[in-house]
Order: sequence, then C-alpha cells, then structure tokens
Amino acid sequence: VAGASEGLGAEFARQLAARGLNLLLIARRPAPLEKAAEELRATHGVEVRTGALDLASAELLSEIRALTDGIEVGMVVYNGAVSIIGPFLEQELSDMLRTIDVNCRGPVILAHELGRRMQDRGRGGIIIVSSLSAYQGVPLLSTYVASKAFDLVLGEGLWGELRASGVDVLAFAVGATRTPRYQASQPQKDPVSVMEVGPVVSQAFAALGRGPSAIPGRINRIASFVMRRLFPRRYAVQLMGSQLRSLYGQ
Ligand SMILES: NC(=O)c1ccc[n+]([C@@H]2O[C@H](COP(=O)([O-])OP(=O)(O)OC[C@H]3O[C@@H](n4cnc5c(N)ncnc54)[C@H](OP(=O)(O)O)[C@@H]3O)[C@@H](O)[C@H]2O)c1
Repeated sequence: VAGASEGLGAEFARQLAARGLNLLLIARRPAPLEKAAEELRATHGVEVRTGALDLASAELLSEIRALTDGIEVGMVVYNGAVSIIGPFLEQELSDMLRTIDVNCRGPVILAHELGRRMQDRGRGGIIIVSSLSAYQGVPLLSTYVASKAFDLVLGEGLWGELRASGVDVLAFAVGATRTPRYQASQPQKDPVSVMEVGPVVSQAFAALGRGPSAIPGRINRIASFVMRRLFPRRYAVQLMGSQLRSLYGQ
C-alpha cells in the first residue's frame, strides 16, 4: 500500500490485513508508518514491513525494487497523492510538478514494475486511487484533477490490458472522504456527501475484478452520472468551480 499510514491508505492496509495478507506499507514519515504497522501486527498477526520513502523520489523504481526484493506482491494499492487547492497561477510550479510525480509518475512505475511480476505469476490486483473530480476540469484544483484523470484512464486501460493474464486492475474514483488530509484542508462546510474510510475501501475490494473503474457511494454515483451525462461540459466545470469556492472561499 503506497500512502499507507493514515486516511484511506491506512484503511486499505487494515482491510487487507484482516484478510490475512502480509503487508508492505509506504509513506514518508517513519513514525506514523511504524505505528500503523505495529497496530496491524498486533491486531491481525500478519507480517508488516515498512518503507519510509517519498513517492516523488527520482529513485522510486530502485527503492521499490529494494523493498520488494524476494517477496511476492499480490496486490498493489496506489493511494498517496499531492492535492493542492488554489489558483493555478499563484502556486509554485515545483509543487505542481511534484503533483505529477506523485500522482502520475508513481503509479506508472509501481504498476509497471509490480504488474510485470504479477503477469508472470498469472494473478494479482492493482487499485489506483483516483477521484470523483477526475471526470471534468475543476477550477482551483486544475493540476490535481488532471493528475487524477490520468489515474482514472491509466487504471481503466490497464484493466483492459491485463485481465486476460489474471491481473485485475481498478481505477477507484473516490469522493469526499473523512481523512486527516480532508480535515486538514479545512472546508468551510461539508459537500452533500462525505463518506467514512471503512465503506469506501470495502467498495473498492467489492469492485475489483468487476470492471475498469468504480465510484464508492450511491450519492457520488448519482452526482457523477448527472455531471457527466446530463450537464453540458462547460456547465459542469463552472459548477465544480463554484462548489469549490463555496467550500474553500476564493
Ligand atoms: N479524502 C478525500 O476527500 C479524497 C477525495 C477524492 C480523492 N481522494 C484520493 O484518495 C487518496 C487518499 O487520500 P487521503 O485523504 O487519505 O490523503 P493522502 O494525503 O492522499 O494520503 C495519505 C497517506 O499517503 C501518504 N503520502 C502522502 N504523500 C506521500 C508521498 N509523496 N510519498 C509517500 N507517501 C505519501 C501519507 O503519509 P506521509 O504524509 O507520511 O507521507 C499518508 O499515509 C488520494 O489518492 C486522494 O487523491 C481523497
């Protein structure tokens, strides 16, 4: 699980441990990572390794190879992301390029490296966490949402490519979910639907192997249907922008 020490990633790890899988947890900060690992070892009796690394690292491929040397990785969850809210032109270019490194380059590296090994074994699963916002442009979140559109389309394409060799891939378009990162973004109010991490992650596992992508939560699925199929695209983009401003101000 890449991005595993808190929020959705920690819940993915918990639900995988509850199924008896041994785990490799990745995040940047060693202390929360080790704490999450210790809890899983104690509660579920599984083996848990940790890797404190930055998914933006230029050495990501070699770091992943070193961490997974000699172990069979049956399932990858690419969860960690950079999500910076604010006017595009006022952000640092380096932060936006980092968004692309973590949210786009990272999943390509992990899916390529670990997907090859899964294909050789004829089985495996890859979940790439995308976002409900990935279906259209969103003012004030342009780079993040574009990166999540990349994740959505990457996961769907890989689903079509790898399923014949026994590897299931799912692009998972998560809506607003109560995680430490969500709370830290300090929305002035909640959007119509905010889900808890448990049901979101359960729905990812239920959807894996059943189609190229999935959206957790009925309200999120209805909202997505309306935005994609009923609204003209320019209206959908403007609506997302005004919603974001009502949540976060200018
Ligand atoms: N929460 C929501 O409302 C929401 C809505 C739509 C989509 N999503 C998607 O859901 C996923 C999870 O979101 P989240 O809210 O749980 O928060 P998140 O900040 O994306 O993920 C938190 C976890 O990822 C790790 N992480 C973050 N950046 C990392 C990096 N550069 N390298 C390695 N590890 C990193 C964090 O630990 P460290 O800080 O120690 O590295 C932490 O363990 C993301 O892909 C996000 O885009 C979330």
